Amino acid sequence: MTRLLVVGSGAREHALAWKLRQSPRVSALFVAPGNGGTPDIAENVAVPANDVSGLLRAAQDRHVDLVVVGPEEPLALGLADAFRAANIACVGPTRAAARIEASKGFAKGLMERARIPTARSRTFDDFAEAKGYVEAQPLPVVVKADGLAAGKGVAVCPSREEAVAFLHEVMVHRAFGGAGERVVVEECLTGTEASAFAFTDGRHLLLTVPACDYKRVFDGDRGPNTGGMGAYSPPEFLTRRDEEEVRTRVLEPAVRQMAAEGTPFQGFLYAGLMVGPTGFKVLEFNCRLGDPETQVVLPRLRSDLLDLLEAIAEGNVARAKADWDPQPCVGVVVAAPGYPGDYPKGLPIAGLEDIARDVLVFHAGTRRDERGQVLTNGGRVLTVVALGDTMEQARRKVYDNVACIAFPGMHYRRDIALRAIQATARPRSL
Ligand code: AMP
Ligand code: GLY
Repeated sequence: MTRLLVVGSGAREHALAWKLRQSPRVSALFVAPGNGGTPDIAENVAVPANDVSGLLRAAQDRHVDLVVVGPEEPLALGLADAFRAANIACVGPTRAAARIEASKGFAKGLMERARIPTARSRTFDDFAEAKGYVEAQPLPVVVKADGLAAGKGVAVCPSREEAVAFLHEVMVHRAFGGAGERVVVEECLTGTEASAFAFTDGRHLLLTVPACDYKRVFDGDRGPNTGGMGAYSPPEFLTRRDEEEVRTRVLEPAVRQMAAEGTPFQGFLYAGLMVGPTGFKVLEFNCRLGDPETQVVLPRLRSDLLDLLEAIAEGNVARAKADWDPQPCVGVVVAAPGYPGDYPKGLPIAGLEDIARDVLVFHAGTRRDERGQVLTNGGRVLTVVALGDTMEQARRKVYDNVACIAFPGMHYRRDIALRAIQATARPRSL
């Protein structure tokens, strides 16, 4: 029997805890810090996700055997190193391996060394040099802060003025602090984005089903970027052959290269892909699962997630197997008024008791008051998820149930998975 700790407070971590709760071998399940939904299936531990020493103490006090980490910050801060040094198994990369997400310059260098297809780019430490380069690039041009910037460190710039202004913000004003010591300037790719994930022990990989995330806040991919407003799985435009190529040309070479360079990557490896008419390129690597992609990937997993986590932590991925449900899955994020800008907190959420039994509601920015009433407590509030015999059915189920939920000013995209239903086969050559 295993005592487990899930680190994080989003809908991704609620989905991880929900899936782990189904394992007959889980004897205790903690989420730190969790949210207003996780106490239904686990025990919340009031330690923030980036307090590594606090989490270690909490895990030791509760005799935790295995920790699984949702967000990138604790990994970049060395959570996995600290837990392993204290003999607690951890699913998640070391601080050194988390650089694959925490430094975009490092990730670009790795891709170059491993010959992984990606956008042409250059990395700069010096503002004047970066400015000179940007001014000579075709438009649009993409400027990225090197370090972690909560999803705000990337600008796709339609003009040179905007590119230089963003560069100035990042490198001179240090809008993202130390994350802006270096920048990556990159060619702009076009196509449709997809997310691929591997469970890896540092040598062998097991791919999950892929998913698509919607980053912009409004329908039709308009408005500012968010953490993700919805997702579906599988992406209709990725063929089996594409998936095989993502394995052999992207994920396997990345894991091999990390090991060869002395920083083996163990945990969840996430490749963000731009898929165009002539193939795909890697936009970024992340050292964790995606949010909201996890909320549509895990409901399709038929196998015991604990078996897979143990295989990752114990170096047994070569012998592990994952069985996936062929049913498509759709997830819609319900957000607070104003998100991704400033938003109020503490709005009472009505209608959760009216959700159909075969629909999942993963909480993110929620908490409960003394009487048990669920209140909003963040920007992304809930992810509502359903499987269906078809994408259309899954989508209808989700939106019928989103309509039950109400809080003042709530908003959500109405076009999640719509393109998968409308898609007509288009010729592709790779
Ligand atoms: P990243 O954190 O590098 O994935 O960038 C965040 C988002 O910016 C991506 O999901 C894309 O929507 C966009 N993006 C990043 N790099 C590029 C690129 N080279 N071309 C076009 N869009 C990009
Ligand atoms: N959904 C995008 C991410 O998790 O980074």
